[in-house]
Amino acid sequence: MRLFLLVLTSVLCGTSVALDNGLMRTPPMGWLAWERFRCDIDCYNDPKNCISETLFTDMADRLAEDGWRELGYVYVNIDDCWSSMERDQQGRLQADPKRFPMGIRNLSQYMHARGLKLGIYGDMGSHTCGGYPGTPLDKIELDAQTFADWEVDMFKFDGCYSNASEQEKGYPLMSKALNATGRPIAYSCSWPAYQGGLPPKVNYTQLGKICNLWRNYGDIQDSWGSVLSIVDWFFDNQDVLAPAAGPGRWNDPDMLIVGDFGLSLDQSQTQMSLWAIMAAPLFMSNDLRTISADARRILQNKVLIGINQDPLGIQGRRIVKEKYGIEVFWRPLQNNVSALVFFSRRSDMPYRYHTSLKKLNYATGNYKVTICPYFTICGDFVSFCGDFLSFCNDVSPCNNFVSFFAFSVSL
Ligand SMILES: *[C@@H]1O[C@H](CO)[C@@H](O)[C@H](O)[C@H]1NC(C)=O
Ligand SMILES: *[C@@H]1O[C@H](CO)[C@@H](O)[C@H](O)[C@H]1NC(C)=O
Ligand SMILES: *[C@@H]1O[C@H](CO)[C@@H](O)[C@H](O)[C@H]1NC(C)=O
Ligand SMILES: *[C@@H]1O[C@H](CO)[C@@H](O)[C@H](O)[C@H]1NC(C)=O
Ligand SMILES: *[C@@H]1O[C@H](CO)[C@@H](O)[C@H](O)[C@H]1NC(C)=O
Repeated sequence: MRLFLLVLTSVLCGTSVALDNGLMRTPPMGWLAWERFRCDIDCYNDPKNCISETLFTDMADRLAEDGWRELGYVYVNIDDCWSSMERDQQGRLQADPKRFPMGIRNLSQYMHARGLKLGIYGDMGSHTCGGYPGTPLDKIELDAQTFADWEVDMFKFDGCYSNASEQEKGYPLMSKALNATGRPIAYSCSWPAYQGGLPPKVNYTQLGKICNLWRNYGDIQDSWGSVLSIVDWFFDNQDVLAPAAGPGRWNDPDMLIVGDFGLSLDQSQTQMSLWAIMAAPLFMSNDLRTISADARRILQNKVLIGINQDPLGIQGRRIVKEKYGIEVFWRPLQNNVSALVFFSRRSDMPYRYHTSLKKLNYATGNYKVTICPYFTICGDFVSFCGDFLSFCNDVSPCNNFVSFFAFSVSL
């Protein structure tokens, strides 16, 4: 896989409306428990990994102390299985008292004291996907107020155990209810994932007005096959999805699994690069206490994070799909720069790919190019002249090659 950056003369400015809470003008970054830690509630046998306040304070400590927070990874997000099986006497959700003895309010204070933010999870329906108390229509305002009282910063609203007509009422109602609390709480909607992700069922104009981000597609699992199925779906449907994204409103292809068990190094670089091109939320779901140096270098790559966080917020697209397994992805960035990822699906041997500026929709001209052949080491700008590009992935023993090129017009 390879990545370029290139200068564009004109950029399309996304000006359509987003949820008016001022949040997430660039894709959110942080950590989310689900993919790695699931619904492990066995704190007796697995105290370090069970869903408990210790897991979240441990991750917060790592984010604050290991250089993540400064790069923008500030959300620490709880997913399913945090609550007690019963609401309290006033009908409010409450955390499991054994696993969260300090309570959610104190947990969010723990985050805020470290310059971090806390996210929490609920479900539009009678139960959460894991069988915990859900938020049916008549509990929406109460639960929104509870989260605001706890000083939570983000809320993910899943959609198990509700039908389409309840969801049609519930997702907009929760948006209003969160707004009415007066606390800025970023709102992540799983609604489109329950509608098949595409129009006519999904109305992306409406989603952009009521949610800051939304899951469109199935859950990521810890495998390369899962990453590829997500990549295929998002780019096969880019004409519908890309216009829906912009500052304050993001498509969410789900968590980064870099640092877990399922991806090789090259595959990890590929996920990070494509998530950057997609302007995807960057929620890692891994164990920051034991993460390898290689995985950390990928996730902390400043070039990639810079691309992901570009203020124009334009979601990138696949611009070339060769029948022999090479694909090229492109994203316009501010200041006349753009990013390109070259991705090989081939499984034979290092493959030399020939292409041209014209084929990549660039005018013939002189460009400044940044090349990062080993992904984590980016070279200085070099001049690039002419109309011919040739890349080979022989810097890498695997076939999903990764290196970077940055172009910018030199005057
Ligand atoms: C972008 O590039 C074009 C073409 O080279 C140039 O005319 C324009 O001035 C550049 N804009 C900026 C903001 O650098
Ligand atoms: C609530 O919505 C109004 C109008 O869209 C907006 O100006 C305000 O900032 C929002 N407040 C919060 C807390 O989200
Ligand atoms: C919660 O935090 C408050 C101070 O912010 C503290 O007085 C209290 O003891 C904490 N409660 C628990 C259970 O940790
Ligand atoms: C959805 O669920 C509600 C509440 O259980 C029910 O009244 C309604 O008939 C259901 N609608 C559909 C279309 O199934
Ligand atoms: C989609 O939502 C927008 C904004 O809420 C609305 O104006 C439009 O009519 C909806 N489109 C469809 C096809 O329902």
